[in-house]
Amino acid sequence: MRVFLAGASGVIGQRLVPRLVQAGHVVGGMTRSPNKTELLSHLGAEPILCDVFDREALIRAVGDFKPDVVLDELTDLPDDAARISERADLNARIRTEGTRNLIEAARRSGSPKIVAQSVAWQLPDGPDARAVAELERSVLAEGGVVLRYGQFYGPGTYNEQQPPKEPRVQIDRAAERTVEALGEPTSVVVITDTQEGQKSSPADLVKALHSAFGNHHARAVHSKGIILEGFFTPSKEAASLTKAVHLQDATSQVVVRFSDFTGIPDIADTNPLSHPRGMAIKFKLPNNASTDLVTHSFNGFPTATSDQFRELLLAIAASGPDAPKPTALDKFLETHPVARTFLTTQKPASVSYATLSYFGVNAFEFTNQEGKTCLIRYQIIPEAGEEFLSKEQLANAAPNYLQKEIVGRVAKGPLKFKMQVQIAREGDDPKNPSLAWPDNRRVVALGTITIDKLASNTVVEDKALAFIPNDLPAGIAPADPMIDFRSKAYPISVAERQ
Ligand code: HEM
Repeated sequence: MRVFLAGASGVIGQRLVPRLVQAGHVVGGMTRSPNKTELLSHLGAEPILCDVFDREALIRAVGDFKPDVVLDELTDLPDDAARISERADLNARIRTEGTRNLIEAARRSGSPKIVAQSVAWQLPDGPDARAVAELERSVLAEGGVVLRYGQFYGPGTYNEQQPPKEPRVQIDRAAERTVEALGEPTSVVVITDTQEGQKSSPADLVKALHSAFGNHHARAVHSKGIILEGFFTPSKEAASLTKAVHLQDATSQVVVRFSDFTGIPDIADTNPLSHPRGMAIKFKLPNNASTDLVTHSFNGFPTATSDQFRELLLAIAASGPDAPKPTALDKFLETHPVARTFLTTQKPASVSYATLSYFGVNAFEFTNQEGKTCLIRYQIIPEAGEEFLSKEQLANAAPNYLQKEIVGRVAKGPLKFKMQVQIAREGDDPKNPSLAWPDNRRVVALGTITIDKLASNTVVEDKALAFIPNDLPAGIAPADPMIDFRSKAYPISVAERQ
Protein backbone atom coordinates (compact mmCIF):
# COMPACT_ATOMS: atom_id res chain seq x y z
CA MET A 1 0.00 0.00 0.00
CA ARG A 2 0.99 3.64 -0.39
CA VAL A 3 0.95 5.24 3.05
CA PHE A 4 0.96 9.04 3.44
CA LEU A 5 2.35 9.49 6.94
CA ALA A 6 1.70 12.92 8.46
CA GLY A 7 4.01 13.45 11.44
CA ALA A 8 6.69 11.14 10.03
CA SER A 9 9.57 12.77 11.90
CA GLY A 10 7.86 12.59 15.32
CA VAL A 11 8.73 10.04 17.99
CA ILE A 12 6.28 7.41 16.72
CA GLY A 13 6.62 8.48 13.07
CA GLN A 14 10.33 7.70 13.04
CA ARG A 15 9.61 4.21 14.34
CA LEU A 16 6.77 3.66 11.92
CA VAL A 17 8.64 4.44 8.70
CA PRO A 18 11.08 1.48 8.76
CA ARG A 19 8.36 -0.90 9.98
CA LEU A 20 5.95 0.18 7.23
CA VAL A 21 8.70 -0.20 4.62
CA GLN A 22 9.59 -3.62 6.00
CA ALA A 23 5.91 -4.62 5.74
CA GLY A 24 6.09 -3.83 2.00
CA HIS A 25 4.44 -0.38 2.01
CA VAL A 26 5.63 2.70 0.12
CA VAL A 27 5.80 5.56 2.60
CA GLY A 28 5.43 9.26 1.90
CA GLY A 29 6.80 10.83 5.07
CA MET A 30 5.43 14.32 5.67
CA THR A 31 7.31 16.75 7.88
CA ARG A 32 7.31 20.52 8.21
CA SER A 33 10.99 20.60 9.23
CA PRO A 34 13.42 20.89 6.29
CA ASN A 35 16.19 19.48 8.48
CA LYS A 36 14.24 16.21 8.97
CA THR A 37 13.89 15.24 5.30
CA GLU A 38 17.30 13.61 5.14
CA LEU A 39 16.49 11.48 8.19
CA LEU A 40 13.21 10.38 6.57
CA SER A 41 15.00 9.34 3.35
CA HIS A 42 17.51 7.46 5.43
CA LEU A 43 14.65 5.62 7.23
CA GLY A 44 13.19 4.60 3.88
CA ALA A 45 10.42 7.15 3.24
CA GLU A 46 9.90 9.53 0.33
CA PRO A 47 10.21 12.81 2.26
CA ILE A 48 7.37 15.31 1.73
CA LEU A 49 8.01 18.80 3.07
CA CYS A 50 4.65 20.35 3.92
CA ASP A 51 2.86 22.12 6.77
CA VAL A 52 -0.55 20.63 7.61
CA PHE A 53 -1.92 24.16 8.14
CA ASP A 54 -1.07 25.11 4.55
CA ARG A 55 -4.28 23.60 3.16
CA GLU A 56 -3.58 24.11 -0.55
CA ALA A 57 -0.04 22.74 -0.35
CA LEU A 58 -1.33 19.75 1.63
CA ILE A 59 -4.04 18.99 -0.96
CA ARG A 60 -1.34 19.08 -3.67
CA ALA A 61 1.05 16.88 -1.64
CA VAL A 62 -1.57 14.20 -0.91
CA GLY A 63 -2.86 14.40 -4.52
CA ASP A 64 0.65 13.91 -5.92
CA PHE A 65 1.41 10.96 -3.66
CA LYS A 66 -1.92 9.13 -4.38
CA PRO A 67 -2.05 7.21 -1.08
CA ASP A 68 -4.14 4.18 -0.16
CA VAL A 69 -3.94 5.24 3.48
CA VAL A 70 -3.46 8.60 5.16
CA LEU A 71 -1.91 7.95 8.55
CA ASP A 72 -2.25 10.95 10.84
CA GLU A 73 0.34 10.86 13.63
CA LEU A 74 0.49 14.64 14.05
CA THR A 75 0.94 16.23 17.44
CA ASP A 76 2.36 19.59 18.41
CA LEU A 77 4.08 18.94 21.69
CA PRO A 78 7.04 20.75 23.29
CA ASP A 79 10.35 18.92 23.86
CA ASP A 80 9.97 19.62 27.57
CA ALA A 81 7.02 17.72 29.12
CA ALA A 82 6.67 20.42 31.80
CA ARG A 83 5.51 22.86 29.11
CA ILE A 84 2.69 20.69 27.68
CA SER A 85 -0.11 22.68 29.30
CA GLU A 86 1.32 26.02 28.01
CA ARG A 87 1.19 24.64 24.49
CA ALA A 88 -2.16 22.81 24.76
CA ASP A 89 -3.77 25.18 22.25
CA LEU A 90 -1.25 24.29 19.55
CA ASN A 91 -1.84 20.59 20.08
CA ALA A 92 -5.62 21.11 20.02
CA ARG A 93 -5.27 23.09 16.76
CA ILE A 94 -3.29 20.36 15.03
CA ARG A 95 -5.92 17.82 16.07
CA THR A 96 -8.85 19.87 14.79
CA GLU A 97 -7.69 22.08 11.93
CA GLY A 98 -4.83 19.73 10.99
CA THR A 99 -7.14 16.70 10.82
CA ARG A 100 -9.80 18.68 8.90
CA ASN A 101 -7.18 19.63 6.31
CA LEU A 102 -5.95 16.07 6.00
CA ILE A 103 -9.51 14.78 5.56
CA GLU A 104 -10.16 17.39 2.87
CA ALA A 105 -6.91 16.48 1.09
CA ALA A 106 -7.84 12.78 1.29
CA ARG A 107 -11.33 13.42 -0.16
CA ARG A 108 -9.75 15.25 -3.09
CA SER A 109 -7.41 12.33 -3.72
CA GLY A 110 -10.00 9.55 -4.11
CA SER A 111 -10.78 9.13 -0.37
CA PRO A 112 -8.03 6.81 0.85
CA LYS A 113 -8.56 5.25 4.28
CA ILE A 114 -7.77 7.58 7.19
CA VAL A 115 -6.08 6.25 10.30
CA ALA A 116 -5.48 8.81 13.05
CA GLN A 117 -3.79 9.12 16.41
CA SER A 118 -5.87 9.67 19.56
CA VAL A 119 -5.36 8.95 23.26
CA ALA A 120 -6.48 6.03 25.45
CA TRP A 121 -6.80 8.08 28.64
CA GLN A 122 -9.53 10.44 29.77
CA LEU A 123 -8.55 14.08 29.22
CA PRO A 124 -9.91 16.67 31.63
CA ASP A 125 -12.71 18.81 30.18
CA GLY A 126 -11.25 21.61 28.05
CA PRO A 127 -9.98 22.45 24.55
CA ASP A 128 -7.75 19.39 24.37
CA ALA A 129 -10.58 16.96 25.26
CA ARG A 130 -12.91 18.68 22.77
CA ALA A 131 -10.24 18.52 20.06
CA VAL A 132 -9.72 14.78 20.61
CA ALA A 133 -13.49 14.17 20.50
CA GLU A 134 -13.79 16.14 17.25
CA LEU A 135 -10.84 14.30 15.70
CA GLU A 136 -12.35 10.92 16.56
CA ARG A 137 -15.82 11.86 15.30
CA SER A 138 -14.54 13.19 12.00
CA VAL A 139 -12.22 10.24 11.32
CA LEU A 140 -14.96 7.69 12.06
CA ALA A 141 -17.41 9.65 9.90
CA GLU A 142 -14.98 9.14 6.98
CA GLY A 143 -14.96 5.35 7.62
CA GLY A 144 -11.52 5.65 9.18
CA VAL A 145 -9.73 4.06 12.12
CA VAL A 146 -8.97 5.84 15.40
CA LEU A 147 -5.86 4.67 17.25
CA ARG A 148 -6.19 5.35 20.97
CA TYR A 149 -2.64 5.04 22.27
CA GLY A 150 -1.61 4.70 25.92
CA GLN A 151 1.06 7.17 27.06
CA PHE A 152 4.25 6.42 25.19
CA TYR A 153 7.33 5.35 27.07
CA GLY A 154 10.79 4.26 26.00
CA PRO A 155 13.69 6.00 24.23
CA GLY A 156 12.87 9.45 22.81
CA THR A 157 9.54 9.79 24.68
CA TYR A 158 8.68 11.91 27.72
CA ASN A 159 8.93 8.77 29.81
CA GLU A 160 12.46 7.55 29.23
CA GLN A 161 13.29 6.99 32.88
CA GLN A 162 10.16 5.29 34.23
CA PRO A 163 7.08 3.82 32.56
CA PRO A 164 4.18 6.22 33.22
CA LYS A 165 0.84 5.32 34.82
CA GLU A 166 -1.56 3.17 32.81
CA PRO A 167 -2.80 3.27 30.15
CA ARG A 168 0.64 3.22 28.60
CA VAL A 169 2.44 1.58 25.72
CA GLN A 170 6.09 1.00 24.93
CA ILE A 171 6.85 3.11 21.87
CA ASP A 172 8.14 0.29 19.63
CA ARG A 173 5.15 -1.88 20.49
CA ALA A 174 2.89 1.05 19.64
CA ALA A 175 4.55 1.29 16.22
CA GLU A 176 4.18 -2.44 15.56
CA ARG A 177 0.50 -2.43 16.50
CA THR A 178 -0.07 0.62 14.29
CA VAL A 179 1.27 -1.22 11.24
CA GLU A 180 -1.11 -4.11 11.99
CA ALA A 181 -4.03 -1.71 12.56
CA LEU A 182 -3.84 -0.35 9.00
CA GLY A 183 -5.89 -3.37 7.92
CA GLU A 184 -8.68 -2.85 10.49
CA PRO A 185 -12.20 -1.91 9.37
CA THR A 186 -13.57 1.41 10.64
CA SER A 187 -13.30 1.31 14.44
CA VAL A 188 -11.54 2.57 17.54
CA VAL A 189 -8.42 0.49 18.20
CA VAL A 190 -6.90 0.72 21.68
CA ILE A 191 -3.12 0.37 21.66
CA THR A 192 -1.86 -0.17 25.18
CA ASP A 193 0.48 -2.56 26.90
CA THR A 194 -2.23 -5.11 27.65
CA GLN A 195 -1.33 -8.30 25.86
CA GLU A 196 -3.02 -8.56 22.48
CA GLY A 197 -6.19 -10.59 22.62
CA GLN A 198 -5.53 -11.41 26.30
CA LYS A 199 -8.83 -12.52 27.85
CA SER A 200 -8.01 -13.19 31.48
CA SER A 201 -6.91 -10.52 33.91
CA PRO A 202 -3.91 -10.56 36.28
CA ALA A 203 -6.39 -11.20 39.14
CA ASP A 204 -7.74 -14.25 37.22
CA LEU A 205 -4.18 -15.59 37.03
CA VAL A 206 -3.60 -15.17 40.76
CA LYS A 207 -6.91 -16.98 41.40
CA ALA A 208 -5.85 -19.75 39.03
CA LEU A 209 -2.53 -20.11 40.91
CA HIS A 210 -4.54 -20.51 44.14
CA SER A 211 -6.87 -23.07 42.58
CA ALA A 212 -3.86 -25.13 41.45
CA PHE A 213 -1.81 -24.82 44.66
CA GLY A 214 -4.19 -23.73 47.41
CA ASN A 215 -4.56 -20.37 49.12
CA HIS A 216 -2.02 -20.38 51.91
CA HIS A 217 -1.83 -16.67 52.56
CA ALA A 218 1.69 -16.77 51.13
CA ARG A 219 3.13 -15.96 47.70
CA ALA A 220 0.66 -17.35 45.14
CA VAL A 221 3.60 -19.24 43.62
CA HIS A 222 7.24 -19.78 44.63
CA SER A 223 5.95 -19.61 48.23
CA LYS A 224 8.81 -21.48 49.85
CA GLY A 225 11.98 -19.45 49.80
CA ILE A 226 14.97 -17.99 51.59
CA ILE A 227 16.46 -14.51 51.43
CA LEU A 228 20.17 -13.68 51.17
CA GLU A 229 22.19 -10.52 50.52
CA GLY A 230 25.27 -9.48 48.62
CA PHE A 231 26.43 -7.22 45.84
CA PHE A 232 26.65 -7.01 42.07
CA THR A 233 29.74 -5.88 40.17
CA PRO A 234 29.17 -4.93 36.52
CA SER A 235 31.53 -6.10 33.75
CA LYS A 236 33.31 -3.69 31.40
CA GLU A 237 31.15 -4.81 28.45
CA ALA A 238 27.78 -4.25 30.16
CA ALA A 239 27.72 -0.49 29.49
CA SER A 240 28.20 -1.07 25.75
CA LEU A 241 24.71 -2.67 25.68
CA THR A 242 22.69 -0.53 28.08
CA LYS A 243 22.79 2.74 29.93
CA ALA A 244 21.00 1.11 32.93
CA VAL A 245 22.55 2.65 36.03
CA HIS A 246 23.53 -0.61 37.75
CA LEU A 247 25.23 -1.86 34.59
CA GLN A 248 27.80 0.95 34.33
CA ASP A 249 30.83 0.88 36.65
CA ALA A 250 29.64 1.01 40.27
CA THR A 251 28.84 -1.92 42.53
CA SER A 252 25.20 -2.29 43.75
CA GLN A 253 23.87 -4.04 46.83
CA VAL A 254 21.51 -6.94 46.06
CA VAL A 255 18.83 -8.90 47.89
CA VAL A 256 18.29 -12.39 46.48
CA ARG A 257 15.43 -14.77 47.18
CA PHE A 258 15.82 -18.43 46.18
CA SER A 259 12.59 -20.41 46.01
CA ASP A 260 10.82 -23.64 45.04
CA PHE A 261 7.99 -23.83 42.50
CA THR A 262 4.31 -24.04 43.43
CA GLY A 263 2.27 -22.05 45.91
CA ILE A 264 2.64 -24.74 48.59
CA PRO A 265 4.74 -23.12 51.35
CA ASP A 266 6.01 -26.38 52.84
CA ILE A 267 6.58 -28.32 49.61
CA ALA A 268 9.46 -30.79 49.97
CA ASP A 269 12.56 -29.82 47.98
CA THR A 270 12.59 -33.45 46.83
CA ASN A 271 9.07 -33.24 45.32
CA PRO A 272 9.29 -33.16 41.48
CA LEU A 273 6.68 -30.37 41.53
CA SER A 274 9.12 -28.10 43.39
CA HIS A 275 10.95 -27.41 40.09
CA PRO A 276 11.77 -25.01 38.58
CA ARG A 277 13.59 -23.27 41.42
CA GLY A 278 13.36 -19.46 41.49
CA MET A 279 16.00 -16.78 41.88
CA ALA A 280 14.67 -13.24 42.29
CA ILE A 281 17.14 -10.36 42.59
CA LYS A 282 16.58 -6.81 43.77
CA PHE A 283 19.39 -4.41 42.80
CA LYS A 284 19.58 -1.31 45.01
CA LEU A 285 20.05 1.80 42.85
CA PRO A 286 21.02 5.37 43.79
CA ASN A 287 18.36 7.61 45.41
CA ASN A 288 16.59 4.72 47.16
CA ALA A 289 15.45 3.29 43.83
CA SER A 290 15.75 -0.38 42.90
CA THR A 291 15.23 -2.71 39.96
CA ASP A 292 14.16 -6.34 39.92
CA LEU A 293 15.03 -9.44 37.94
CA VAL A 294 12.89 -12.54 38.54
CA THR A 295 14.23 -15.76 37.01
CA HIS A 296 13.76 -19.51 37.29
CA SER A 297 15.84 -22.59 36.59
CA PHE A 298 14.20 -23.63 33.28
CA ASN A 299 15.17 -22.00 29.99
CA GLY A 300 11.59 -21.41 28.88
CA PHE A 301 8.00 -21.15 30.09
CA PRO A 302 5.26 -23.80 29.74
CA THR A 303 3.10 -21.53 27.57
CA ALA A 304 3.48 -18.67 25.10
CA THR A 305 0.80 -16.47 26.70
CA SER A 306 -0.66 -15.66 30.09
CA ASP A 307 -4.11 -16.94 28.99
CA GLN A 308 -2.65 -20.35 28.18
CA PHE A 309 -0.78 -20.35 31.49
CA ARG A 310 -4.13 -19.88 33.23
CA GLU A 311 -5.63 -22.81 31.28
CA LEU A 312 -2.70 -24.96 32.39
CA LEU A 313 -3.18 -23.94 36.04
CA LEU A 314 -6.91 -24.67 35.88
CA ALA A 315 -6.16 -28.04 34.30
CA ILE A 316 -3.72 -28.83 37.16
CA ALA A 317 -6.43 -27.80 39.66
CA ALA A 318 -8.95 -30.16 38.06
CA SER A 319 -6.56 -33.11 37.93
CA GLY A 320 -6.12 -34.26 41.53
CA PRO A 321 -5.41 -37.92 42.37
CA ASP A 322 -9.12 -38.83 42.19
CA ALA A 323 -9.83 -37.18 38.83
CA PRO A 324 -11.03 -39.60 36.13
CA LYS A 325 -8.52 -40.40 33.36
CA PRO A 326 -7.69 -38.80 31.00
CA THR A 327 -7.54 -35.81 33.33
CA ALA A 328 -7.91 -32.19 32.27
CA LEU A 329 -4.12 -31.95 32.58
CA ASP A 330 -3.59 -35.01 30.34
CA LYS A 331 -5.83 -33.37 27.74
CA PHE A 332 -4.06 -30.01 28.01
CA LEU A 333 -0.63 -31.61 27.63
CA GLU A 334 -1.84 -33.61 24.64
CA THR A 335 -2.36 -30.38 22.71
CA HIS A 336 0.44 -28.33 24.33
CA PRO A 337 3.70 -30.23 23.81
CA VAL A 338 5.83 -27.33 25.11
CA ALA A 339 4.02 -27.46 28.45
CA ARG A 340 4.57 -31.24 28.54
CA THR A 341 8.30 -30.69 27.96
CA PHE A 342 8.35 -28.08 30.76
CA LEU A 343 6.66 -30.43 33.22
CA THR A 344 8.64 -33.53 32.31
CA THR A 345 12.17 -32.35 31.52
CA GLN A 346 13.18 -30.25 34.50
CA LYS A 347 16.78 -30.77 35.59
CA PRO A 348 17.41 -33.20 38.45
CA ALA A 349 17.40 -31.77 41.97
CA SER A 350 20.53 -29.66 42.41
CA VAL A 351 22.97 -30.04 45.29
CA SER A 352 22.35 -26.39 46.16
CA TYR A 353 20.42 -23.32 45.05
CA ALA A 354 23.95 -22.09 44.24
CA THR A 355 24.77 -24.95 41.82
CA LEU A 356 22.00 -24.26 39.34
CA SER A 357 21.58 -21.89 36.35
CA TYR A 358 18.62 -19.53 36.16
CA PHE A 359 16.92 -17.89 33.16
CA GLY A 360 15.00 -14.64 32.76
CA VAL A 361 12.78 -16.27 30.08
CA ASN A 362 10.99 -13.04 29.02
CA ALA A 363 12.85 -10.74 26.59
CA PHE A 364 13.87 -7.16 27.35
CA GLU A 365 15.14 -4.38 25.15
CA PHE A 366 18.46 -2.80 26.10
CA THR A 367 19.33 0.75 24.95
CA ASN A 368 22.86 2.11 25.31
CA GLN A 369 24.11 5.72 25.63
CA GLU A 370 24.19 6.08 21.82
CA GLY A 371 20.56 4.99 21.54
CA LYS A 372 21.52 1.62 20.03
CA THR A 373 19.11 -1.15 21.04
CA CYS A 374 19.19 -4.93 21.24
CA LEU A 375 16.82 -7.63 22.47
CA ILE A 376 18.13 -9.80 25.28
CA ARG A 377 17.28 -12.61 27.65
CA TYR A 378 19.06 -12.99 31.00
CA GLN A 379 21.01 -16.04 32.15
CA ILE A 380 22.51 -16.47 35.62
CA ILE A 381 25.23 -19.11 35.76
CA PRO A 382 26.85 -20.43 38.96
CA GLU A 383 30.60 -19.84 38.91
CA ALA A 384 31.17 -23.18 40.62
CA GLY A 385 29.25 -24.94 37.81
CA GLU A 386 25.99 -26.88 38.04
CA GLU A 387 25.92 -29.86 40.38
CA PHE A 388 23.04 -32.29 40.89
CA LEU A 389 22.12 -34.99 43.39
CA SER A 390 22.35 -38.61 42.29
CA LYS A 391 19.13 -40.67 42.56
CA GLU A 392 20.43 -42.23 45.80
CA GLN A 393 21.33 -38.83 47.28
CA LEU A 394 17.90 -37.50 46.35
CA ALA A 395 16.19 -40.49 47.98
CA ASN A 396 18.05 -39.68 51.21
CA ALA A 397 17.68 -35.88 51.04
CA ALA A 398 15.62 -34.10 53.69
CA PRO A 399 12.49 -32.11 52.68
CA ASN A 400 14.24 -28.81 53.52
CA TYR A 401 17.74 -29.78 52.40
CA LEU A 402 18.14 -26.75 50.10
CA GLN A 403 17.64 -24.09 52.79
CA LYS A 404 19.89 -25.93 55.24
CA GLU A 405 22.56 -26.31 52.57
CA ILE A 406 22.59 -22.66 51.49
CA VAL A 407 22.78 -21.44 55.11
CA GLY A 408 25.86 -23.63 55.65
CA ARG A 409 27.43 -22.73 52.30
CA VAL A 410 27.19 -18.95 52.67
CA ALA A 411 28.62 -19.18 56.21
CA LYS A 412 31.78 -20.73 54.70
CA GLY A 413 32.30 -18.19 51.91
CA PRO A 414 30.59 -16.12 49.20
CA LEU A 415 28.46 -17.70 46.46
CA LYS A 416 29.11 -16.33 42.98
CA PHE A 417 27.01 -16.22 39.84
CA LYS A 418 27.85 -14.81 36.42
CA MET A 419 25.00 -12.66 35.09
CA GLN A 420 24.94 -12.60 31.30
CA VAL A 421 22.59 -11.96 28.40
CA GLN A 422 21.84 -13.81 25.24
CA ILE A 423 21.35 -11.39 22.33
CA ALA A 424 18.52 -12.10 19.89
CA ARG A 425 19.19 -12.54 16.21
CA GLU A 426 16.78 -11.78 13.37
CA GLY A 427 13.84 -14.16 13.71
CA ASP A 428 14.16 -14.83 17.47
CA ASP A 429 10.72 -14.11 18.87
CA PRO A 430 10.84 -11.81 21.93
CA LYS A 431 7.15 -12.37 22.64
CA ASN A 432 7.05 -16.13 22.98
CA PRO A 433 8.67 -17.11 26.29
CA SER A 434 7.88 -20.79 25.69
CA LEU A 435 10.61 -21.02 23.05
CA ALA A 436 14.24 -20.77 24.13
CA TRP A 437 16.53 -18.91 21.74
CA PRO A 438 19.21 -21.18 20.23
CA ASP A 439 22.43 -21.67 22.22
CA ASN A 440 24.62 -20.24 19.48
CA ARG A 441 23.37 -16.69 20.06
CA ARG A 442 25.98 -14.12 21.14
CA VAL A 443 26.33 -14.04 24.92
CA VAL A 444 27.66 -10.96 26.76
CA ALA A 445 28.73 -11.02 30.41
CA LEU A 446 27.02 -8.29 32.45
CA GLY A 447 28.84 -8.86 35.72
CA THR A 448 29.08 -10.95 38.87
CA ILE A 449 26.53 -11.48 41.65
CA THR A 450 28.29 -12.22 44.94
CA ILE A 451 26.08 -13.46 47.78
CA ASP A 452 27.86 -13.18 51.11
CA LYS A 453 25.28 -13.30 53.88
CA LEU A 454 21.96 -14.63 55.02
CA ALA A 455 19.22 -12.03 55.54
CA SER A 456 17.21 -12.04 58.76
CA ASN A 457 14.36 -14.00 57.10
CA THR A 458 11.85 -12.72 59.63
CA VAL A 459 8.14 -12.82 58.80
CA VAL A 460 8.22 -9.02 58.50
CA GLU A 461 11.13 -9.07 56.05
CA ASP A 462 9.56 -11.82 53.97
CA LYS A 463 6.24 -9.95 53.71
CA ALA A 464 7.94 -6.69 52.80
CA LEU A 465 10.01 -8.23 50.03
CA ALA A 466 8.22 -7.93 46.69
CA PHE A 467 9.55 -8.10 43.15
CA ILE A 468 8.03 -6.40 40.11
CA PRO A 469 9.40 -7.63 36.76
CA ASN A 470 8.87 -4.27 35.00
CA ASP A 471 10.47 -2.13 37.72
CA LEU A 472 13.27 -1.05 35.36
CA PRO A 473 15.71 1.85 35.02
CA ALA A 474 16.19 3.81 31.77
CA GLY A 475 18.10 1.61 29.33
CA ILE A 476 15.94 -1.50 29.90
CA ALA A 477 12.36 -1.94 28.67
CA PRO A 478 10.01 -4.93 28.47
CA ALA A 479 9.99 -6.58 25.03
CA ASP A 480 7.53 -9.35 25.95
CA PRO A 481 3.95 -8.42 26.94
CA MET A 482 4.05 -11.11 29.62
CA ILE A 483 6.39 -8.86 31.65
CA ASP A 484 3.77 -6.15 32.15
CA PHE A 485 1.12 -8.79 32.78
CA ARG A 486 3.28 -10.42 35.48
CA SER A 487 3.89 -7.00 36.96
CA LYS A 488 0.16 -6.50 37.54
CA ALA A 489 -0.28 -10.01 38.98
CA TYR A 490 2.57 -9.87 41.52
CA PRO A 491 1.21 -6.92 43.54
CA ILE A 492 -2.17 -8.70 43.87
CA SER A 493 -0.42 -11.62 45.53
CA VAL A 494 1.70 -9.25 47.62
CA ALA A 495 -1.44 -7.52 48.94
CA GLU A 496 -3.09 -10.87 49.76
CA ARG A 497 -0.13 -12.11 51.78
CA GLN A 498 0.19 -9.10 54.13
C1 HEM B 1 1.88 -14.96 33.20
C2 HEM B 1 2.96 -15.41 33.78
C3 HEM B 1 3.22 -15.32 35.26
C4 HEM B 1 2.37 -15.05 36.31
C5 HEM B 1 0.89 -14.75 36.25
C6 HEM B 1 3.16 -15.08 37.53
C7 HEM B 1 2.66 -14.84 38.78
C8 HEM B 1 3.41 -14.77 39.95
C9 HEM B 1 2.92 -14.35 41.24
C10 HEM B 1 1.49 -13.93 41.52
C11 HEM B 1 3.95 -14.41 42.12
C12 HEM B 1 3.93 -14.09 43.62
C13 HEM B 1 4.38 -12.65 43.88
C14 HEM B 1 4.47 -12.29 45.34
O1 HEM B 1 3.57 -12.62 46.13
O2 HEM B 1 5.46 -11.61 45.72
C15 HEM B 1 5.10 -14.87 41.38
C16 HEM B 1 6.34 -15.06 41.91
C17 HEM B 1 7.42 -15.55 41.21
N1 HEM B 1 7.47 -15.82 39.85
FE1 HEM B 1 6.00 -15.55 38.54
N2 HEM B 1 4.46 -15.39 37.20
C18 HEM B 1 4.55 -15.54 35.84
C19 HEM B 1 5.67 -15.81 35.09
C20 HEM B 1 6.90 -16.08 35.64
C21 HEM B 1 8.10 -16.36 34.90
C22 HEM B 1 8.22 -16.33 33.38
C23 HEM B 1 9.10 -16.60 35.80
C24 HEM B 1 10.54 -16.94 35.59
C25 HEM B 1 11.27 -16.48 34.61
C26 HEM B 1 8.53 -16.46 37.13
C27 HEM B 1 9.20 -16.63 38.31
C28 HEM B 1 8.72 -16.29 39.55
C29 HEM B 1 9.53 -16.33 40.77
C30 HEM B 1 10.97 -16.80 40.90
C31 HEM B 1 8.71 -15.85 41.80
C32 HEM B 1 9.09 -15.68 43.28
C33 HEM B 1 9.53 -14.24 43.53
C34 HEM B 1 9.98 -14.05 44.97
O3 HEM B 1 10.95 -14.72 45.36
O4 HEM B 1 9.34 -13.25 45.69
N3 HEM B 1 7.19 -16.14 36.99
N4 HEM B 1 4.75 -15.09 40.07
